[in-house]
Amino acid sequence: MSETSPEKAAQRQFGRQASRYAVSRAHATGTSLDVMVDWAKPTSADRVLDVATGTGFTAFAFAEASAEVAATDLTTNMLHEARRLAAERGLRNIRFLQAAAEALPCRAGSFDIATCRIAPHHFASVPTFLREIHRILRPGGRLVLTDSSSPEESEPYTWHQELERIRDTSHVRNYTPSEWRRFIPEAGFTLEELTTAHRTELVFSDWVRTSGSPPEVVAELRRRFIEASPAVRDAFQIREVEGDFHFSWMLVILLARPA
Ligand SMILES: C[S@@+](CC[C@H](N)C(=O)[O-])C[C@H]1O[C@@H](n2cnc3c(N)ncnc32)[C@H](O)[C@@H]1O
Repeated sequence: MSETSPEKAAQRQFGRQASRYAVSRAHATGTSLDVMVDWAKPTSADRVLDVATGTGFTAFAFAEASAEVAATDLTTNMLHEARRLAAERGLRNIRFLQAAAEALPCRAGSFDIATCRIAPHHFASVPTFLREIHRILRPGGRLVLTDSSSPEESEPYTWHQELERIRDTSHVRNYTPSEWRRFIPEAGFTLEELTTAHRTELVFSDWVRTSGSPPEVVAELRRRFIEASPAVRDAFQIREVEGDFHFSWMLVILLARPA
């Protein structure tokens, strides 16, 4: 892992901000969790792997309906917060382990369900991550994944990528829905569902607090919101409310099975 690798950047960013993610409403709630559980249909016999669990919200949603969850993340402080929250919730069927999404310490075919929510845009290689998921799922298993996604149109696409990189240097790239439609079969899956109908609703002041952005970065991000073109405002539903900006990111939510 080099000093500037996406893995190092993610560990630095999330290591510092773990306690803020633990109280982030955008991560704790959201319809994407309901869609993922609804599509994966976990049963009390299922073994679930949650990749890049962060402070554990997806693992918690699946733990309630499955036999056991293995929750992995690159960052020890995030896992520490996740363990604390799991104990607070009385969830005893979750095991936490430190691992990169691209190199999972799991036997081939050992899971019924794999989940990953709001994290692939930090991964060094989404194709490598997807091949790992394909390896650890049993035949007939399912992958349910959510990630913030960029519009296909070039102006909002570029605005979004630049903004996220300025806010959080561990951000690698948000993928468009058409890229996800290509990644999934290339990694050996059949894509069964993909929706872009759900969005993460955000408020600028909370969003920069969660990332712990310093004042000069906050000022640059604010400038970009103020100067956003009508096409960008429209794509991200940007509106000014009492001196703050409210906006939303499109989500890709998908269900896939090993082909
Ligand atoms: C926004 S949080 C995830 C949120 C969480 N999945 C949820 O549903 O609330 C992103 C997480 O991705 C992790 N991460 C980033 N790159 C990673 C990688 N290559 N492998 C594993 N975890 C990674 C970070 O440590 C961080 O905890």
